[in-house]
Amino acid sequence: MSGNDANRIRIFDTTLRDGEQSPGASMTLEEKIRIAEVLEAMKVDIIEAGFAIASNGDFEAVSKIAAQIKNSTVCSLARAATADIDRAAEALKSAKSSRIHTFIATSPLHMRVKLQMEPSAVLEAIHRSVSHARSRMGDVEWSAEDATRSEIDFLCRAVETAIKAGASTINLPDTVGYATPAEYERLVRTVIERVPNSDKAIFSTHCHNDLGLAVANSLAGVAGGARQIECTINGIGERAGNAAMEEIVMALRTRHDVMPWHTNIETTEIMRISRLVSTVTGFAVQNNKAIVGANAFAHESGIHQDGVLKNAETYEIMTPESVGLNKSSLVMGKHSGRHAFADKLRELGYELGDNAFQECFRRFKELGDRKKQIYDEDIVALVDDEVATS
Ligand code: KIV
Ligand code: ZN
Repeated sequence: MSGNDANRIRIFDTTLRDGEQSPGASMTLEEKIRIAEVLEAMKVDIIEAGFAIASNGDFEAVSKIAAQIKNSTVCSLARAATADIDRAAEALKSAKSSRIHTFIATSPLHMRVKLQMEPSAVLEAIHRSVSHARSRMGDVEWSAEDATRSEIDFLCRAVETAIKAGASTINLPDTVGYATPAEYERLVRTVIERVPNSDKAIFSTHCHNDLGLAVANSLAGVAGGARQIECTINGIGERAGNAAMEEIVMALRTRHDVMPWHTNIETTEIMRISRLVSTVTGFAVQNNKAIVGANAFAHESGIHQDGVLKNAETYEIMTPESVGLNKSSLVMGKHSGRHAFADKLRELGYELGDNAFQECFRRFKELGDRKKQIYDEDIVALVDDEVATS
């Protein structure tokens, strides 16, 4: 991997904040601390631990995580209000490294309907909130909520205001998952090119998955010049969720040939954190989910199983070990071929003569037509029966 720092992507995990905003995904304090510990172990750069003013529980979670985590920056969200920012600063006070993340919407729709503020008042609020956050903390991130539906001239003025007031990270969220990759790349590039002193800040992506484009948009944002990606484990988050960290990290690692950027993430922790987040939230990971789904490294068809047994690279573009799995699995079913069946018999400790093998294979195929998945116990029963009756 390249050691070129200009190509390093900071991973900002928001599983504990935006992820927890998934309907039904609330987590206890102990569960949040366990997740934060694994995020730290996997070398996440910034952990957004919560929204300190949202509730006493959120405040406590941010405080406890801030006190405990030493190797990642701990962050709290805050609206553009003094009370929010002060509560975030208070919760973060014992952190070794901390960040306040403050935001306000910049799209015409949000300003008019939700905030009921004139654009000039929004610019003033950005100046006031970021300046206040900077008076409380050295590391301040500012987000333009609904950036992708904002008017570009106004968005650039808003970003310029935030940088002047001291924000060192500028986040351009695709809050409603509306952008396409080409649009999002252009948006990030345009803002960086047009805003004076944009080199004083790191630009960040924050993409929601309403059209299933969150990961593609995040990577496009990096192509446009962003060097921080905000994401969640298993892609959990508001509505259809956020960009999935495991997909981003493995895409950057696997396709380094065409995407010259790299993260610091310890990818062998991916399965552990995915299972932990799934268990804690009660949100099952779909079987065919990229990287962490039960079928992501499983092969059923005979042709694929034969290929994988000869050389895993035939049907695997990354190793299961690289994401913390012991090995890929050959799922036994009606599509499995002789080669995989023989391999399974060896694994179960059987050595059959040719005739017995052919008969067992015939019966195995017959069983496959009746049963979706054939377990080891089915094969043991079938072979024992064949051996006993022959
Ligand atoms: O989606 C969004 O716009 C957010 C901001 C608060 C960063 O989550
Ligand atoms: Zn969000």
